[in-house]
Amino acid sequence: MRAIDVCLSPDLMHLYPVQDKTVVVVDILRATSCMTTAFAHGIKSITPFAKLEDCMAMKEQQYVTAGERDGKKVEGFDLGNSPFEYMDEKLKGAKIAFTTTNGTQAIAKSEGAKEIIIGSFLNLSAVTDYLARGDNNVLVVCAGWKGKVNLEDTIFAGAVVEMLKDQIHSDCDAPLAAQHLYTLAMDDLEGFLKNSSHVMRLAKLNIHKDIRFCLTPDQYNVVPMLKNGALEL
Ligand code: MLT
Repeated sequence: MRAIDVCLSPDLMHLYPVQDKTVVVVDILRATSCMTTAFAHGIKSITPFAKLEDCMAMKEQQYVTAGERDGKKVEGFDLGNSPFEYMDEKLKGAKIAFTTTNGTQAIAKSEGAKEIIIGSFLNLSAVTDYLARGDNNVLVVCAGWKGKVNLEDTIFAGAVVEMLKDQIHSDCDAPLAAQHLYTLAMDDLEGFLKNSSHVMRLAKLNIHKDIRFCLTPDQYNVVPMLKNGALEL
């Protein structure tokens, strides 16, 4: 039987060999939710960057620049990190250069994996269906917050473990802990997360609408995948 594991923070990636794995990168609030939304609305590609300057430089190549630092849109960028910004008709077919505080760093740290795909509650079933059909072992990489563990990414990881439990086994405690958390939280994700660190951080920025949307399962049937350095469908 195939195996699933959960890396609770990108700073723990040295513990997880990725060469034989499909890695699911998750940053529920809000990077991977934005990416999922963008592809569901016809964006052509998203090139993730760990560094702000590298992302900004893509303007010269007619990329739309997007992302945030500490939850706020970067000065001079075209877009920030709200999923609602990626629903704009005008962005259909666009190539986006994207950098975020944690999400795009988690993608960078997953380099070398057999496959890297993007997970969020918005495409939860699409992701688990894709994983169920595959042959690879699975690692869910939680973006967390600046190396620290967060609840929303861990709960998403638990949802993946729970939904795949008949096909993919786990023999470590991180997937087990994540699965337990998910079963506690699943009936009221928003209520369960109301005191979590990033929900509080985003609430201070008045972004309640984003939080609610990012916690809504199965809005989109897309599985963005990294191909030659860019995410595509
Ligand atoms: C991140 O990558 O850290 C997040 O997406 C931050 C945010 O909510 O904007």
